[in-house]
Amino acid sequence: MIERDVDRLIVSDLDGTLLGDDKALQRFTGWRERHRDTVALAFASGRFYGSVVQSMQQTALPEPDAIVGGVGTEIHDYPSGQEIPGWHEEIGQNWDAERVRDIFSSHSEMELQPEKWHSDYKVSYFLEDADREQLDALKDELKEHGIESEVIYSSNRDLDFLPARANKGSAAAYLAKHWGIPAERVIASGDSGNDHTLMEQGFRGIVVANAQPELKKITGPHIYHAQNGYAAGVLEGIEYWWNTDESD
Ligand code: GLC
Ligand code: MG
Repeated sequence: MIERDVDRLIVSDLDGTLLGDDKALQRFTGWRERHRDTVALAFASGRFYGSVVQSMQQTALPEPDAIVGGVGTEIHDYPSGQEIPGWHEEIGQNWDAERVRDIFSSHSEMELQPEKWHSDYKVSYFLEDADREQLDALKDELKEHGIESEVIYSSNRDLDFLPARANKGSAAAYLAKHWGIPAERVIASGDSGNDHTLMEQGFRGIVVANAQPELKKITGPHIYHAQNGYAAGVLEGIEYWWNTDESD
């Protein structure tokens, strides 16, 4: 629950976006403290809630108001840790994580990620150099078994299978709606494939300079490509969007 009168939301990825340049992260955290009264902050990570909280203890990351974890499969309020209600009912139909693992057990080219990175809503593998055709074929294979999935490929290696409609972007849009913040008042930043959907919600997007090619290639009037990397790129992008925002 946010008890401040916020009218903007910053949603940012962590690894390779806010995390990666400690000095810049400290500047971001200072900025966040100065704007805390009016700006809500959410992290959107491929990692789960507990792992994100651990990073907050180990780095200069500021305290957010919510954590979108597991590539958008969970949304937790922070610091209460409570799940934002309703999200799992929105996703999760025609989905069964156990069956996804069974179906893909014969795919020796796909290496299962460590168990702690899996949940009932997320099944992840390592698969290098997959192309669109291969990813589509995997999605089709699940569909033949009655499973509707969202397939997310990042960094030319990380392959996530999630329930249809579950991704960072849809989860962030759900959160913004929950807090009553319109899409054009949301700024989203990222560096890799699992951030792609954050750039498709009508938010103002920031792609940091160190981004992976799959995110760098996105263009459009709502995408800002920062000259700086990591948290410095996020700050640069926020400044850009605040200066060009016509609604102020
Ligand atoms: C994080 C998760 C991993 C996922 C990757 C890309 O690294 O831990 O499971 O594959 O993000 O979404
Ligand atoms: Mg990242």
